[in-house]
Amino acid sequence: MTQSPRKKPEELRSHRWYGIKDLRAFGHRSRTAQMGYHRSDYAGKPVIAIINTWSDINPCHSHFKQRVEEVKRGIWQAGGFPVEMPAISLSEPFQKPTTMLYRNLLAMECEELLRSYPTDGCVLMGGCDKTTPALIMGAISMNLPAIFMPAGPMLRGDYNGEFLGSGSDTWKYWAELRAGNITEQDWQNVEDGIARSPGHCMTMGTASTMTSAAEALGLTLPGAASIPAPDSRHAQMATLTGKRIVDMVWEDLKPSDILTAASFDNAVTTVLALGGSTNSIVHLIAMARRAGIDLDIERFDALARKTPVLANLRPSGKYLMEDFFYAGGLRAFLTQLGGLLDFTQRTCNGRTLGENVEGAKVFNADVIRPLDNPVVAGDGLAVLKGNLAPGGAVIKPAAMEPQLRKHKGPAVVFKDYNDMAARIDDEALPVTKDSVIVLQSAGPQGAPGMPEWGQLPIPKKLLVQGVRDMLRISDARMSGTSYGACVLHVTPESHVGGPLALVRDGDIIELDVDARRIDMLVSDEELAQRKAVWKQPAPKFTRGYGVLYLKHIQQADTGCDFDFLETEKAQAEQGGEPEIH
Ligand code: FES
Repeated sequence: MTQSPRKKPEELRSHRWYGIKDLRAFGHRSRTAQMGYHRSDYAGKPVIAIINTWSDINPCHSHFKQRVEEVKRGIWQAGGFPVEMPAISLSEPFQKPTTMLYRNLLAMECEELLRSYPTDGCVLMGGCDKTTPALIMGAISMNLPAIFMPAGPMLRGDYNGEFLGSGSDTWKYWAELRAGNITEQDWQNVEDGIARSPGHCMTMGTASTMTSAAEALGLTLPGAASIPAPDSRHAQMATLTGKRIVDMVWEDLKPSDILTAASFDNAVTTVLALGGSTNSIVHLIAMARRAGIDLDIERFDALARKTPVLANLRPSGKYLMEDFFYAGGLRAFLTQLGGLLDFTQRTCNGRTLGENVEGAKVFNADVIRPLDNPVVAGDGLAVLKGNLAPGGAVIKPAAMEPQLRKHKGPAVVFKDYNDMAARIDDEALPVTKDSVIVLQSAGPQGAPGMPEWGQLPIPKKLLVQGVRDMLRISDARMSGTSYGACVLHVTPESHVGGPLALVRDGDIIELDVDARRIDMLVSDEELAQRKAVWKQPAPKFTRGYGVLYLKHIQQADTGCDFDFLETEKAQAEQGGEPEIH
């Protein structure tokens, strides 16, 4: 591997703010002095932005106030000048209608913070679902040296001597409560014990999926993604991350030097072998397109066909991220994937992925399975096409009841979320375990924001009969901690006139996972007649950020990025970074 020549201090981007002799630089220096820094604190040193997504309303990042001090310690030690820059937090449990509405806003904020301030490199502090892709998307577009510091999973939940998993056990016990199998007191005990430390969700949900993907891409220090948030080794990793970014600036090691089609294949394969979240499809495609790499949903399907699920983690398996860490973590996990990964890919510490996992050992072969004893032999995710989803749809076969892989049944259609909430538990709803529940208007524009509504509830009258899974279809996403036979991301979405908008009660819908098909058995002529009288619902926003969102959001198959933020368009129109005065 060729070593990049080291930068000189006057070649630093921040030199334009601090190093030159003019009135504006005087202002920058005098205002830095105002904050108590002597010029020897920063002169000739890389200025490192720490983009911190802490907030009082994000429990997954509640340790970031402390961690940012540890990152700063590393930056100081390595001869850099740390500057903390808070950014919108995107707190998954609280933000309505969905954090996905704001993923691109955080990506823009990250990019513009880096562009408009005297930054030479950055540490990206995220972990709660959308924060990871958003920060990385922004950093890719700005293309300054960048390293990701994952929040780390929270500890296992605890209830009546059992371990609880974020999300997965919420859905499970909620269904049991509705079916009358547990008491209100039991339910309260679940509430008290399911989230008992800082850190992101500790199932293989979107957070663990995306931080692991970031590590497989080479954007974190080796092993960083698996360390539980409260573990002292997480604090040590934060300091090491701060140290490393300073050298990355001198080496001028940028995202464009790390991210390749092969490194994205590594990330996709890692996600599939982890039994990771379907949300990763949307995020990884958006990240790749920012990097100018043409990753599409067919690539996920092609890799899924040859990638077994080796991580025995909920929702597809049994264990939680704390167990995964004790079993050896992601480094050990990657060694199990052998020839499925390209270990020659460069990472942010300057070494290859292969060098980073060298010597890693699996300490529990039931948590991290070998290739010859997978949790699921293949099909961690599957991409479906058909007359119901010409642009594609997604299902997670590893987390559904196997008999539903091939299924045919009549549709029970809800025109939007409120309609579903009002009628789903109606005793008179004409639904059986063979019905197919369909939700419209839940996509990027329709909901809007493509919320995680895709694990549509099973009607109460079926729950009490013991039904725990049935075929469900929507243009929504699904939480990575969810499970069930849920067809998601139907593209084009119903709000823009996709075929999902044309489904009516009683239409027969057919799913065939092995054939990768999702169809409604309605003639083309009939569908054309329905389309002719279909009217697009009114837009959900008439002012503010929502208008910008609706005007520029793209469909799920291309990652739901804003059209004007994609790399090729930006480069063509902008001609590189504008001169800053
Ligand atoms: Fe933050 Fe799940 S709520 S990661």
